[in-house]
Amino acid sequence: MHRRLYIPGPTEVSEDVLQAQVRPMIGHRHKDFTALYASVLTQLHEYFNTEQHIAVFAASGTIGMDITGRNLIREGKAALSCVNGAFSKRMADTLKNCGHNVDVLEVEWGKAIKPEMIEEKLKEKEYDVVTVCQNETSTGVKSDLKAIGEVISKYPETLLVVDTVSSLGGDLILPDEMHTDFIFASTQKAFALPPGLAIMIYSEKAVKRAEEVKNRGTYTDLLKVHNYYLKKKQTPSTPAISLLYALDYQLGKMLKETAKGRYERHKAMAELTRKWALEKGFKLFAEKGYESVTVTTIENTLNKDVSALNAALAEKGMELANGYGNLKNKTFRIGHMGDHTLETIQELLNNINEIWELN
Ligand SMILES: Cc1ncc(COP(=O)(O)O)c(C=O)c1O
Repeated sequence: MHRRLYIPGPTEVSEDVLQAQVRPMIGHRHKDFTALYASVLTQLHEYFNTEQHIAVFAASGTIGMDITGRNLIREGKAALSCVNGAFSKRMADTLKNCGHNVDVLEVEWGKAIKPEMIEEKLKEKEYDVVTVCQNETSTGVKSDLKAIGEVISKYPETLLVVDTVSSLGGDLILPDEMHTDFIFASTQKAFALPPGLAIMIYSEKAVKRAEEVKNRGTYTDLLKVHNYYLKKKQTPSTPAISLLYALDYQLGKMLKETAKGRYERHKAMAELTRKWALEKGFKLFAEKGYESVTVTTIENTLNKDVSALNAALAEKGMELANGYGNLKNKTFRIGHMGDHTLETIQELLNNINEIWELN
């Protein structure tokens, strides 16, 4: 039996979106591909209401971290990585793995990164980039990107790099208004597509920075991707054409719903989940006021058996997520992103109530 996914990625993919992939193959140097890619990029620009550049990679979201390390930090300069969970830590580690000097601004997991913490650091030292994970999937914490962007925009040498892997397309992210320079996401989260595509939205300032950086690699060379698109309107290496068909189709649906409408639906699903958790006697892991709209991390204060719950849910054709890493069993996570609705979330909650005998 298929288990409907309530994990924070990959998330459930609708049948019509799956079917949109099933089309005859085309050559990626043919004008048919140019038309497909143009349609995808036009729709992405419209959805995010942005003047910035956009590229879609055949890759998962983590490539955004390597692209940051390979393109946006000059030799001998430093990065400030804000860490408040497993994925923001992965970014700090990736930049170190690329050989950079990285200062880590770490707060307790479950807490948000605050703009004043970043400002304090920027007053002390110049950084080529500040990295932030806007939506920490491990803890269910959302940081205030607009406020962080306002602070960083006062420092012209510093680029704001944001991991929006589990929020882009669900939460309301507006790159121009939020002063971001490089944001990245993968399609298996709030876009509700199969895994395999990474979406990047990057500023002209990011392009200019990459021009000053050597050793950008090949697949990770943002300038190569950028210039190839400017010249040929295609991608330098073979794209994931079937997934682009699905993305093109799904973006049509997303534009009909509108970015605001999609955000409101995600917010409503998050509120329903949080209300349920609190009413049943659990606590929320995220700092109050900074709860994610795409994933809720619930503190297992009732000491329930999360693995047994998932086994029982499987019988009913559903799956949620245990806590991430050290938070396993101490927390559990409900992903309410993509094409989920209040009804599908309520169905999951009803089943948990029944299995755990919660009144
Ligand atoms: C916030 C965040 N960043 C990065 C990643 C890594 O993305 P991917 O698995 O698409 O490489 C994930 C995956 O769950 C994530 O949630």
